Amino acid sequence: MILLTGAAGFIGYHLALALVAEGHRVVGVDNLNDYYDPELKWARLTAAGFDRDALATAGKAESRLHPGLFFQKLALEDGAAMDALFAEHQFSVVCNLAAQAGVRYSLSNPQAYVASNVTGFVNVLENSRKHGVKHLVYASSSSVYGLNDKVPFAETDAVEQPASLYAATKRSNELLAHVYAHLYGLPTTGLRFFTVYGPWGRPDMAYYLFSDAILNDRPIKIFNHGRMSRDFTYVDDIVEGLRRIILQERPAQEGVPARIYNIGAGRPSSLLDFVETLERHLGKVAEKEYLGMQAGDVEKTFADTTALERDYGYRADTSLDEGIAAFVKWYREYNHLP
Ligand SMILES: NC(=O)c1ccc[n+]([C@@H]2O[C@H](COP(=O)([O-])OP(=O)(O)OC[C@H]3O[C@@H](n4cnc5c(N)ncnc54)[C@H](O)[C@@H]3O)[C@@H](O)[C@H]2O)c1
Repeated sequence: MILLTGAAGFIGYHLALALVAEGHRVVGVDNLNDYYDPELKWARLTAAGFDRDALATAGKAESRLHPGLFFQKLALEDGAAMDALFAEHQFSVVCNLAAQAGVRYSLSNPQAYVASNVTGFVNVLENSRKHGVKHLVYASSSSVYGLNDKVPFAETDAVEQPASLYAATKRSNELLAHVYAHLYGLPTTGLRFFTVYGPWGRPDMAYYLFSDAILNDRPIKIFNHGRMSRDFTYVDDIVEGLRRIILQERPAQEGVPARIYNIGAGRPSSLLDFVETLERHLGKVAEKEYLGMQAGDVEKTFADTTALERDYGYRADTSLDEGIAAFVKWYREYNHLP
């Protein structure tokens, strides 16, 4: 049995479906918080075959479309609920994607990050240790590279210059995971995701905000006057990387069983090229408002993915053009647009 936290979230939803499609049994949990519209989280759950009324009444249910996929509403920071969850199931693998995400929100809501990403993550670690979990896989973030300016970013680079509280909590996950791997031999793998986009994506992220603004004739905000680049990674590529790390044998390793990998396209795009691709697929040119750099943000991200390729024989390969086409197609359907 696999525990997948953040299962009603963007990446969690895709991963849950990929795992059950191969016959794995998955318990998904999520607190369905309102950081962005919870209706999108409910829509993902509905698309995955969960009955909203049954979930609202019982708090947990099995998917009607995918037998072996279960969902339970639960918050990571609720220690008693987490203890009970782990006691009820014998999880062999835990994949922790639940987190308070978003760089900008962490400037105004630091406590939300401490509750989910620190207290919640320690509950995941403690229960994984207590209940003999064989492998803990968890989401970290490219934001841990912070103000580093050597590119591409490699896992061996020092990561001591976070630019936001979000980044600092993600780095703390890596350090905490190392402690549990060292003290208790809990095998852990952290994945530093680089700007993930795609169908069922997050409404707080630029590609979604831009699409909404462009289609509703509102100007889009281009920060740092467009001098930004991101290593945009298509969600299916992230899911494939996660899938391999969860299901394949962990490569042999000496010393503390704590691993960290970048997972990104390894092919950064400038913000303006990205907007141009979006405009082309939306069939509309954006009105652009050029602004300065936002607090907490970084200018560029660029993943060195040779370690993941070496150990798991995998690299993300979906082009921006294909990925944006798939996102726009979904966006139109979801929003009932022609
Ligand atoms: N999408 C990206 O570009 C990106 C980049 C780097 C890292 N990440 C990380 O990947 C993971 C998944 O991201 P996503 O894009 O799917 O985000 P998401 O916000 O769509 O998914 C996270 C889910 O976790 C749930 N959650 C949050 N706090 C919780 C808590 N305390 N208890 C239970 N559930 C909780 C939320 O309700 C949400 O559904 C996160 O850890 C995020 O920080 C994402």
